[in-house]
Amino acid sequence: MMMTSDFKHEREFDLGGVVPWGRRLQEYAAFFALDDLAGFAPVLDAGGGPSSFAAEATKMGIAVTASDPIYRFGEGDIRRRFEQTAEAMRVGMRRAHYRFNWSYYGSEDAVHRLRREALELFLGDLETGKREGRYVPASLPALPFADGAFRLALSSHLLFLYGDDLDFDFHLAALRELMRVAEEVRIFPLVNLDGLPSSHLPGAMSVLRGEGVRTELVSVPFEFQKGATRMLKLRKY
Ligand SMILES: C[S@@+](CC[C@H](N)C(=O)[O-])C[C@H]1O[C@@H](n2cnc3c(N)ncnc32)[C@H](O)[C@@H]1O
Repeated sequence: MMMTSDFKHEREFDLGGVVPWGRRLQEYAAFFALDDLAGFAPVLDAGGGPSSFAAEATKMGIAVTASDPIYRFGEGDIRRRFEQTAEAMRVGMRRAHYRFNWSYYGSEDAVHRLRREALELFLGDLETGKREGRYVPASLPALPFADGAFRLALSSHLLFLYGDDLDFDFHLAALRELMRVAEEVRIFPLVNLDGLPSSHLPGAMSVLRGEGVRTELVSVPFEFQKGATRMLKLRKY
């Protein structure tokens, strides 16, 4: 006899929550169509995790602060969590290979190489950056920054992507908080881990528009999850 669990839909990406998996600055520049990053400083990378965006920007003399709950932890803990994630990502990407556009990265190995480069650049900067206040342990939707502290706040691969783990109210509160601390907010991607348009997006845009926020979906020069070619841009009127 077939057990009910035989009918259970198995997800391609079974990550067990929001995971530390970080991208490089060149990737952020593509996700957010940022040709002139210096012109947007100071920048906040909310949920920056083990991305090397802040580390690389700092080397270029551009003011970037990153915030993430994992900045409470030290190098050993972050490395351990990263290795668990790398394994889950390999399994997920193998299952879901067909629904990615490989023109940017070329191969799974290239993606993993970039993630490891990002991790090493990030870890090499973490302790100095913590002392300098550039890595701030904090969780959305409550950030320890003053109103308007940043010209631009970015959220990459957290909001909307983890829509099954983070509900609509969380998204709305997080977007309002990002708008409190920055003049402009950009979010990418706008699809979930299954590669489907986030069900939270239309409602969140509509509520924010009602609160006087200009909301725009902007095409970007990047596609990895097929169809994920736009970012959300928020500005006060
Ligand atoms: C997939 S990683 C993305 C990292 C980076 N933004 C990038 O795209 O390379 C997601 C990050 O979100 C962080 N995170 C989870 N919950 C959060 C919250 N409530 N507020 C801020 N960051 C959170 C995790 O710790 C993790 O580092």
